[in-house]
Amino acid sequence: MSGSGEISALGQMEGGRQVLAFVGDADSVEALRVGLQALGGGVDLRRGTIRQAIRYLEKETPPRAIVVDVSDAENAQSALDDLARVCPPDVQVFVVGDNHDINFYRLLVDDVGVTEYLPKPLTRDSVQRQLLNRLSPIQSDTASARGGQVISVFGARGGVGATTIACGLAMELSNIAKGHVALLDLHLQGGAMSIMLNGSPGSGLRMALEDAERADALFLERTALTIGPRLQMIAADEPYDAEPHVTAAGVSRLVSLLQRKFNYVIIDMPVPLPMVMSPAVALSRHVVIVMGPDVVSLRSGKALRSWATGLTGTNRTISVINRGDSKGSISAQLVEKALGAKPDIVIPNAGRKMIEAVNLGVPAVQHVPVLKRHLMPLVREISGLAPSRGNSVLRRFFRG
Ligand SMILES: Nc1ncnc2c1ncn2[C@@H]1O[C@H](COP(=O)(O)OP(=O)(O)OP(=O)(O)O)[C@@H](O)[C@H]1O
Ligand SMILES: [Mg+2]
Repeated sequence: MSGSGEISALGQMEGGRQVLAFVGDADSVEALRVGLQALGGGVDLRRGTIRQAIRYLEKETPPRAIVVDVSDAENAQSALDDLARVCPPDVQVFVVGDNHDINFYRLLVDDVGVTEYLPKPLTRDSVQRQLLNRLSPIQSDTASARGGQVISVFGARGGVGATTIACGLAMELSNIAKGHVALLDLHLQGGAMSIMLNGSPGSGLRMALEDAERADALFLERTALTIGPRLQMIAADEPYDAEPHVTAAGVSRLVSLLQRKFNYVIIDMPVPLPMVMSPAVALSRHVVIVMGPDVVSLRSGKALRSWATGLTGTNRTISVINRGDSKGSISAQLVEKALGAKPDIVIPNAGRKMIEAVNLGVPAVQHVPVLKRHLMPLVREISGLAPSRGNSVLRRFFRG
């Protein structure tokens, strides 16, 4: 916090803080305090700016609703853009400002997708009507029209590096884009993700995929493993003689649940993909296809691309050539010819440090700088962080 300091931190209610506000003036703090009295101790009111709210969300557990003040922001839209990157989709966003123009209101509520815009001066009455009454019930399953992006990752052949890239992308999206990220491994048996990230999964994922009713709000608390401050992993480690009866309803429900809680849901997909898991692909914004510079993976990579395009209706694939510079590999020109276009991302062979990372149970992006560097274009493509992408990411994040 800056010199303006914290006016009051009234503690947390069971189930977490309900409303957290960063507003610029004492009068607004006071109107919020009086208007939100019905919430008891679940309200945390601070004098501060939207930038402080963003920094808060980058580090701390998100509240149920956040109130930000754009009166002093140089560019309200770009500040909200940055907020959208770090604010999980199920957090309601209330914006306070001194602009009384109806078009500004419409922009924020209709286009940007914030829950409500409250013009200053705030009053007890406006806070009660526009904020308190608009708070959705705790852990509502249908609360949000916004939704996190789903990114499915496929390996065109075994051992090509799909899990490595899924894990690296997840770590970087949470570290650099500061988004809340869920990493889901749909290899229920023998998946490598939990080994790479040093976690021990239980039976929750299998049960949720078998019985959609189980993918409820408590599921995450019981099943998700915390990998980093904004990164959770959901994986299974079923014995090889188990026969999980995964249902399409379970897959859809689980992915939708994760979309409400996280900005990014990255799924390590088994290949060939069981038909019942195809709803996860249909929900994907990006389909990452990892190939090696070899004939087999290029051929099946192309087949995967057509199949995924048919399923999602548009080409959402991002092609990655991993270990593009390995000895004996096909030349870049031939790769381009085989794919019909240059691959979107090329990652070099990072050598034995990669195996070292797996054996140490350390995420490869932390151990191998070259991998981190080469994943950056993929991180930018997905997060919209690239300076060259002029488009606002607001809709992508606040409107799902
Ligand atoms: N760019 C790279 N340079 C060197 N080694 C790599 C690179 N990418 C991945 N590896 C290594 O290749 C091995 C296989 O990687 P990974 O498990 O990610 O592949 P996969 O496609 O998920 O395999 P599977 O088919 O078993 O799911 C791992 O030991 C990993 O460390
Ligand atoms: Mg794998």
